[in-house]
Amino acid sequence: MVSLSGRRMIVVGGSTGIGRGIADAWADAGADVVVCSRRQPTDAAHLSWERIDLSEPEHARERLAGLATNGVDAACFSAVYYGEERAYFRDVAEGEWRRQLEVNLTGLWLTLHAVLPSLRKAGPGLFVGVSSEVAFNAGPGRSGYAASKAAAKVLLDSLAQEEDGRIRVVQVLPAGMVDTPGIRRRRPADFDYSSYARPASFAQVATELAVTAGDGHHGDSLVVDANGDWDSVNDRSPVSQSRALT
Ligand SMILES: NC(=O)c1ccc[n+]([C@@H]2O[C@H](COP(=O)([O-])OP(=O)(O)OC[C@H]3O[C@@H](n4cnc5c(N)ncnc54)[C@H](OP(=O)(O)O)[C@@H]3O)[C@@H](O)[C@H]2O)c1
Repeated sequence: MVSLSGRRMIVVGGSTGIGRGIADAWADAGADVVVCSRRQPTDAAHLSWERIDLSEPEHARERLAGLATNGVDAACFSAVYYGEERAYFRDVAEGEWRRQLEVNLTGLWLTLHAVLPSLRKAGPGLFVGVSSEVAFNAGPGRSGYAASKAAAKVLLDSLAQEEDGRIRVVQVLPAGMVDTPGIRRRRPADFDYSSYARPASFAQVATELAVTAGDGHHGDSLVVDANGDWDSVNDRSPVSQSRALT
């Protein structure tokens, strides 16, 4: 049994989906985990919660900074705005684009800005970014989402180079699709999710990264499959999950 007892973690976007899978795994291993999101996570007596809306940057900046002053050993960013629906670039309104950047990219920036000083003090603390295959393959029919995820990936890659030796930065991404509320909002009611992974498939990698503070994986992106096994993106190319628009 591993123990993260005494460790303090923050998961931005940890109320549902992959972030929730990571928050649950860290809490199950004994860590004190604060989830940041707009809505309170359900069935979550083992998690603390801070209401943060990344679309309200002034408030989000203040709340994230407040949380970080209590010390942070590891932080994860999993918040996402996928967009209302998949659509060609020509059919996407500017407001949709701005909202994707606001949550997926500026939200990540705000989180990093708040937690980096604490992660440096944790010597080294761990930052886990939840990435996507679209950052490697592009995403026709979801260009704004793909652009925001690619920018987030390179932001974290750049940070990993800058902070080498001070903090550890690791990105994780699903090998296929994961059954999450965010994905369900964009599927028909009768959609068959049997081939989709579960958020809990991220438990193993998240726990190992937290226990080792990402030792041996700094700067890497890890592709995680439905069984919870993972490989470096250098050994396993992420496969495009983009579907044709109907
Ligand atoms: N699911 C997949 O198949 C898949 C595939 C590739 C990559 N990913 C990546 O996995 C990550 C998580 O995706 P998911 O499918 O697990 O999503 P999800 O179930 O929709 O969870 C998204 C999280 O972000 C939070 N969030 C959304 N907007 C927010 C805002 N304005 N302020 C604060 N928090 C906000 C949500 O909480 P509230 O709604 O309570 O605010 C929730 O906790 C994303 O980075 C995504 O790119 C997922």
